[in-house]
Amino acid sequence: MSKVVRFWENTAQTPIQIVEAPIFIELGLRVYIKRDDLIHAYISGNKWRKLKYNLIEAEKNGFQTLLTFGGAFSNHIAAVAAAGKALDFDTIGIIRGEELRPDSNPTLQFAAKCGMKLHFVGRTAYRDKETLAHFYGRDAFVISEGGSNQLAVPGVAEMVEEVKNQLGGKIDYFCTALGTGGTAAGILSVFENEVLVFPSLKISSEEAAQLILTHIPQPTGRLKVIEKYHFGGYGKMNDTLLDFIRDFETQTGIPLEQVYTAKMMYGLVELAKEGFFKSGTQMVVLHTGGLQGRSERLPPIKRK
Ligand SMILES: Cc1ncc(COP(=O)(O)O)c(C=O)c1O
Repeated sequence: MSKVVRFWENTAQTPIQIVEAPIFIELGLRVYIKRDDLIHAYISGNKWRKLKYNLIEAEKNGFQTLLTFGGAFSNHIAAVAAAGKALDFDTIGIIRGEELRPDSNPTLQFAAKCGMKLHFVGRTAYRDKETLAHFYGRDAFVISEGGSNQLAVPGVAEMVEEVKNQLGGKIDYFCTALGTGGTAAGILSVFENEVLVFPSLKISSEEAAQLILTHIPQPTGRLKVIEKYHFGGYGKMNDTLLDFIRDFETQTGIPLEQVYTAKMMYGLVELAKEGFFKSGTQMVVLHTGGLQGRSERLPPIKRK
């Protein structure tokens, strides 16, 4: 078996647990969370799923170097750096923001420590990824921003199949946060009912659908984009969101972070309060990880 395949096959299935938030119990909703945040210490959540077939492909085709893109706090950059270190790939990260340095924040420090070569580029240059990839890594295997491409889809789809086996019974809704769309695409490629998608950035439903459908032309399920809960845009947060995280963690013991998972969960709670779901609805929320980028304004995560 190849080294990359062995690495991915050697992981335990992540747990699925009921979310014991009083509001869900009061409304008679069975909300389960798939704890992919627990999948790996550094390649966490949807990154684990999206990278699997990308790295298998890179290894199969004899690539020694992985090149990818991300913002200053990118979970994907951290995950690719960690995967490269674990599997002996060289890694190159092209980072948006020419004012940044390898020690600008813990995410970049971590990536640099894993051996990732970081290149910092201005916002305009960052848009032209093809030119950048050619310039900085002519012989590298290029992984799109956020790890979202067609090879991300089967890895995420495996997570959905895992959930179906774990849970049994009908799942009415599957919920995920959205950034670059690969995770939602993977879910929609195999889930038959409604997929609720919560963008963490200011984006219209049509734009979100377009992002997702570039990776899978033929979804099996129905897509519904809940565009209201971005809290001002990507990376933006406020005290309401941070208070929500603290309360949610006290009630459920499930850690969230402010960029993706908390915005999704906040939106889900609001939808429930508005009466969007009927009593008896059963749904699954994907915990996409990202806890490495948790705000310093939140308490440290307690692990049992
Ligand atoms: C923690 C977390 N949640 C959700 C997402 C959004 O996933 P996607 O970019 O596949 O839409 C990301 C980005 O990959 C992420 O890091």
